[in-house]
Amino acid sequence: MADATIAERWIEPPLQAREHTLCDADTYEAMYRRSIEEPDAFWDEQAARLEWITPPETIADWSFDPVAIRWFTGGTLNLCHNAVDRHVAAGRGETIALIFEPDDPAGEVRRITYAGLQREVIRMANTLKQLGVARGDRVTITMPMIPEAAFAMLACARIGAVHSVVFGGFSPDAIAGRVEDCASDWIICADGAVRGAKPVPLKAHVDAALQKVAAKAVLVVRHTGVDVTMVAGRDHWYHEASQGVAEDCPCEPMAADDPLFILYTSGSTGKPKGVLHTTGGYAVWTETTFRYVFDYRPGEIYWCTADIGWVTGHSYIVYGPLQNGATALMFEGVPNHPDHDRFWQVVAKHKVNIFYSAPTAIRSLMREGDGHVTKHDLSSLRLLGSVGEPINPEAWRWYHQVVGKGAVPIVDTWWQTETGGIMITTLPGAHPMKPGSAGRPFFGVCPQLVDGDGQVLDGATEGNLCISRSWPGQATTIYGDHERFVQTYFSTYPGKYFTGDGCRRDEDGYYWITGRVDDVINVSGHRLGTAEVESALVLHPRVAEAAVVGAPHDIKGQGIYCYVTLNVGEEPGEGLAAELRAHVRQEIGPIATPDFVHFTPGLPKTRSGKIMRRILRKIAENDFGSLGDTSTLADPSIVETLIDGRQNR
Ligand code: WTA
Repeated sequence: MADATIAERWIEPPLQAREHTLCDADTYEAMYRRSIEEPDAFWDEQAARLEWITPPETIADWSFDPVAIRWFTGGTLNLCHNAVDRHVAAGRGETIALIFEPDDPAGEVRRITYAGLQREVIRMANTLKQLGVARGDRVTITMPMIPEAAFAMLACARIGAVHSVVFGGFSPDAIAGRVEDCASDWIICADGAVRGAKPVPLKAHVDAALQKVAAKAVLVVRHTGVDVTMVAGRDHWYHEASQGVAEDCPCEPMAADDPLFILYTSGSTGKPKGVLHTTGGYAVWTETTFRYVFDYRPGEIYWCTADIGWVTGHSYIVYGPLQNGATALMFEGVPNHPDHDRFWQVVAKHKVNIFYSAPTAIRSLMREGDGHVTKHDLSSLRLLGSVGEPINPEAWRWYHQVVGKGAVPIVDTWWQTETGGIMITTLPGAHPMKPGSAGRPFFGVCPQLVDGDGQVLDGATEGNLCISRSWPGQATTIYGDHERFVQTYFSTYPGKYFTGDGCRRDEDGYYWITGRVDDVINVSGHRLGTAEVESALVLHPRVAEAAVVGAPHDIKGQGIYCYVTLNVGEEPGEGLAAELRAHVRQEIGPIATPDFVHFTPGLPKTRSGKIMRRILRKIAENDFGSLGDTSTLADPSIVETLIDGRQNR
């Protein structure tokens, strides 16, 4: 079936989903209306599911001009208490909080109850305190997908320290930049990680990063047993440092607008931004979105395949599920090791009910054939989710038909690091689905489509996606640079939050994300600023200049397409292309490895020297027919050269 035909079709939620939902279509309409018309009352009610030390005095307390975002002002709470202790106190201590499935299918599964989680988090929290970590301090966490990563995050939340999780696949330089930006004196890491049998020397990366920036202490969790160097006075083994720490540790009362965590994400310019989330709003947003979108019921097994190093791991492995008292699976491995059926084998093994993953993973598994899926019993599945990038209707259909046997709803959830949690999605049981469309706004979300001049467009239309009102999960600033926060998100369309995404709204009010409209590319669901890859390329001694754009890629969604000009006297060639790929990998990390290197004698520039990226994007997309006006270029003939270079690839 052609993609277009699939996309036009409505797919009704299966009966089973409609019968078991917290929220049917009418309830959604009523709740959505109330969330917009009476936001204070609405969010006060949602927030009441949490335990507050002091209830908030003001619910919504924000302005987009000037930009000041606060929620639940006057309230105090502790998110670790809400995610862990509260369940133990309510007699749910023996419920499994986390199931750990290791990289090696024959390895040991760990099951951690809420009571066990409380003990582990207290042990980690007291160890951090003993090392000198205090309320407000920034703690960098770079860990494999093991329960200790969650313990570390929750331990920070417990004592009021601000965590900054750095994805374990980042290079030492990337770690150093992030440690330096938030002046984080403390680092928690593991000796090593293993992903698909491939070792990652995490502690060695931290050591290399600490050649460039200083830290007071590094706490090292023993995981793979790999040899590591321990610097006396600075580095501490967790299993040693945690010996004999006290068995209790009070949860620090935090103001609703006290910082909870920083998470670095790529922007269109310069260095990554430390997006800051605060305690109260983020807690309420992740609790509420998890509850309604995944429609979780006690006893169910929920699995989100994201890495803890990304916002999806923060909100939907740790804070959302645990606040709901859910049982969340944490998987250390990768989808295609030891074979392409690993995900489905895990679903069958643990009888997973809710499975939340990314289009890039779905596409890569789809390519390997249905046999890997059909050989496993997936009848436990009740709900499927997708996040990270638009899911193409063909992959959607495969997910629905082959994985879900046509009997399971799919939630295609659109959101961002900055939004804290899910913003646009269908709700299972409430909404028919349209393959490729994220669906409808979540409670309290006011999307607007705006044209280049800032005009708000009505009805079925296409434009730049803005959000006109604040919602509780909204990031409040960029760490240490509020001006950049204002510039990045609120200056293009004053008075609105601009997402950086393009979007279409259809006649049924469904939203279809069309992709980034800024210089950010989405590679396998990971955001990467083209400027970051460009700076890495020009660091190479043979490179004069580089321009990077996204190009369509079958599995990754977008691939990294690099136009490179060399210094005088340097010769292009496959050898140099491979060297540049390795160089970028080294500088940023494997996720930034260029897919295409296109050597060119020059770049299309205006007379004032500005690179015309629009032209580079079109050429990378193999779309030579609509390059637009090239007469303003300093040297229009470069366009032919670039097209020839593209065609000869
Ligand atoms: C894209 C990940 C279409 C979008 C949670 C957004 C999506 C960026 C979807 C944020 C989706 C995420 N459909 N596009 N369901 N989900 N995106 O900050 O371009 O890593 O702006 O957050 O991913 O990426 P981030």
